[in-house]
Amino acid sequence: MDRLLINGGHRLEGELAVHSAKNCVLALLAACVLATRPVTLFNCPKITDIINMTKIIEALGGKIFWEKDDLTVDCSVLTGNEIPSSYAKEIRSSLFLMGPIIGRLKHAKAVFPGGCDIGIRPIDLHLKGLRALNIDIEETGGFLYCNGENARGNDIHLDFPSVGATENIMMAAVLAKGKTTITNAAKEPEIAALQKFLNKMGAKIAGAGSSTIVIEGVKKLDGCEFEPIPDRIVAGTLMTAVGIAGGEIEIENVVPEHIAAITSKLVKSSCKVRAFCDRIVISSNLRTKAVDIETSPYPAFPTDMQAQIMAFDAISEGTGIIIENIFETRFKHVPDLRRMGADITVHGDVAVVRGVRKLYGAEVHASDLRGGSALVLAGLKAEGVTSISGVGLIDRGYESFEKTLSSLGAKIQRISVND
Ligand code: UD1
Repeated sequence: MDRLLINGGHRLEGELAVHSAKNCVLALLAACVLATRPVTLFNCPKITDIINMTKIIEALGGKIFWEKDDLTVDCSVLTGNEIPSSYAKEIRSSLFLMGPIIGRLKHAKAVFPGGCDIGIRPIDLHLKGLRALNIDIEETGGFLYCNGENARGNDIHLDFPSVGATENIMMAAVLAKGKTTITNAAKEPEIAALQKFLNKMGAKIAGAGSSTIVIEGVKKLDGCEFEPIPDRIVAGTLMTAVGIAGGEIEIENVVPEHIAAITSKLVKSSCKVRAFCDRIVISSNLRTKAVDIETSPYPAFPTDMQAQIMAFDAISEGTGIIIENIFETRFKHVPDLRRMGADITVHGDVAVVRGVRKLYGAEVHASDLRGGSALVLAGLKAEGVTSISGVGLIDRGYESFEKTLSSLGAKIQRISVND
């Protein structure tokens, strides 16, 4: 029930490093279920999606140990194969656990997963892929009962390059007999990281990062230590924050190639970006121009940055056209941005943002994770105080977002409703 209060109008200056990527850590955590010895993942953020995923692993009998930001997962002994409904409803990534649980324990039970309400988010591609591996899945009373006793490799073509379905199938296939080939696979950096991680544990996978992934089944996977990739969406959000608030920041622990689609738009809008091997420096003089974006699978512009760029366009000069191709209802931040004075009209999956150069503080509500972060960014520039409720959704993907932004000079604080 927390709120974020932001006093707009302060430039951002300073240096900071981003953590490992939420979406990478979530997939790797699911993959830990396959390992018969402990795994350590470095530099993990303590965000609610990751904490919830660790709780599901504990419910399966796995052991979780945090040492500062390093997370050790010991799944050498597992005692259950059911993903608890309470967590599954909170976190869509619980779905990725189906593949590894089936791989390791042969049987799995799950409910239909939840997650941010940004579209219909069906799971047909996951189920189609798992069934193609000869895994029997019964859908009864809202539950999925999976039997992978006779799982074996197969050729699987995804109708759409779904990130989660690609990861789920990779993890189910890794301990299945024979060879699996996934075509039209997702090419996101998190998929390549998952391949690297599984191979370090003893898997035989090739091709991740391209649209064809080949998996040769192995008998078992060992433990390992691994540094997940940096969070490209957190880096992109902070870069956009500078574009909106002005100033100059240096972000460490980034892979510039992973954020190229974001960088190119910010540069086009007049931000200055200097990219080095694992860090990036961005500055903005506030004379930004609105940019057009169209979200599509990697390496195109990520849907997880659409809302933040919309906030950016709202305070820029000119008009930006935003086309959302991945999720059907991912414009829920629009009414709240409008409440702050933004001029945005939505026609289906297209939003037209006419830059107004000036926003005003208002009481707004975060309806989903990235939409919520967009409201925070808008608040950095708005005149007066912006008060944001629904902060729990922002906490799913940004660790103490207010502390990160305060360290850069923003005037932002978290209050509980009882304060
Ligand atoms: C992942 C990311 C999320 C990001 C998204 C797209 C994680 C934990 N989350 O989500 O942050 O926004 O990729 O880059 O990694 N679809 C189907 N059937 C399916 C599966 C998906 O129709 O079985 C559709 C979805 O409804 C959506 C599109 O495919 O319209 C993309 O979804 P997908 O790539 O699967 O996203 P997630 O893995 O859920």
